[in-house]
Amino acid sequence: MERRTLGRGDHALEVSAEGLGCMGMSEFYGTADESEAVATIHRALDLGVTFLDTADMYGPFTNERLVGRAVAGRRDEVQLATKFGNERAEDGTRLGVNGRPEYVRRACDASLQRLGVDHVDLYYQHRVDRTVPVEETWGALHELVEAGKVRRLGISEAAPATIRRAHAVHPVTALQTEYSLWTRDPEENDVLATVRELGIGFVAYSPLGRGFLSGQIRTVEDLDPDDFRRNHPRFQGEAFAQNLVLVDRVREVAQEKGVAASQLALAWVLAQGGDVVPIPGTKRVRWLEENVAALDVRLTDEDLRRIDEAAPVGAAAGQRYPDMSSVHV
Ligand SMILES: NC(=O)c1ccc[n+]([C@@H]2O[C@H](COP(=O)([O-])OP(=O)(O)OC[C@H]3O[C@@H](n4cnc5c(N)ncnc54)[C@H](OP(=O)(O)O)[C@@H]3O)[C@@H](O)[C@H]2O)c1
Repeated sequence: MERRTLGRGDHALEVSAEGLGCMGMSEFYGTADESEAVATIHRALDLGVTFLDTADMYGPFTNERLVGRAVAGRRDEVQLATKFGNERAEDGTRLGVNGRPEYVRRACDASLQRLGVDHVDLYYQHRVDRTVPVEETWGALHELVEAGKVRRLGISEAAPATIRRAHAVHPVTALQTEYSLWTRDPEENDVLATVRELGIGFVAYSPLGRGFLSGQIRTVEDLDPDDFRRNHPRFQGEAFAQNLVLVDRVREVAQEKGVAASQLALAWVLAQGGDVVPIPGTKRVRWLEENVAALDVRLTDEDLRRIDEAAPVGAAAGQRYPDMSSVHV
């Protein structure tokens, strides 16, 4: 498995070139079989996919417990990343974005306990709290590093100016945001340019467009009744139909290369630079293996030109979230 380095110098973190997003094993993308989910994590580790992504709010809380159980006994093989800041109650109620220092400390201790580890390798601020100066949140995060509870720090869905302010308090190892053939915003809104200037790694979440870019979701009826994507703007009516045209153009290029559309979509993210690490999500061994094989897909300049034509910047219909108020803050 190819390895990539997020961040620079003393704050660098070496990870597998492709990570594994564990969110869908517990919430959002329909029902999951727990033993298949654990088997998927084990297969990932066996194949060298050692960079695992979770968050306290997935489940809520159950995803960290699941990941903790899966990595027990194999902790040293893993680069474990989790996140805080989207506060939820035990019953799942959303309590809002919280970046207050006392909450940061409490959230970290709770995550360590659920994961069953004494430190995490990468701890992200999941969403920026507009009511708390980011310097205060990052002051508390810096203390967690000093205490040895977390090794490296990251930030998710932050705007360039916020990334700079956080980086001035403690070096940011990784910025995590959505990046894929239907979300090329980081190329436009200076996020990619800013992290490159500062030497921060880029972790691309939802690199398969929440599954849409696989070309296998043909109608909203393909999703479970409780699937969160049923309320996602890009999966609604006219937007869905327009996005299907986009994905079918991508699928055509993939077919000519003899690979799955999802593999082409991942290969495209991997080709954006050695500082970019996609974390496709799956709860199935079968998809995991297919996604790992995307690392062997080589894209020529001509392939990249054709993909660019099929899925240009801004081509997707619909917003990335029903409510965009807490992203790119
Ligand atoms: N920082 C943030 O705010 C944020 C937001 C969203 C996600 N994330 C993180 O990023 C990770 C990845 O995001 P995501 O889960 O939305 O990723 P994604 O990889 O874009 O989409 C996952 C969906 O694609 C399906 N899929 C995966 N591989 C496939 C394949 N080869 N063929 C067909 N379908 C395939 C999965 O199906 P199955 O479910 O059936 O396996 C799942 O429904 C998450 O798990 C989470 O850790 C972070």
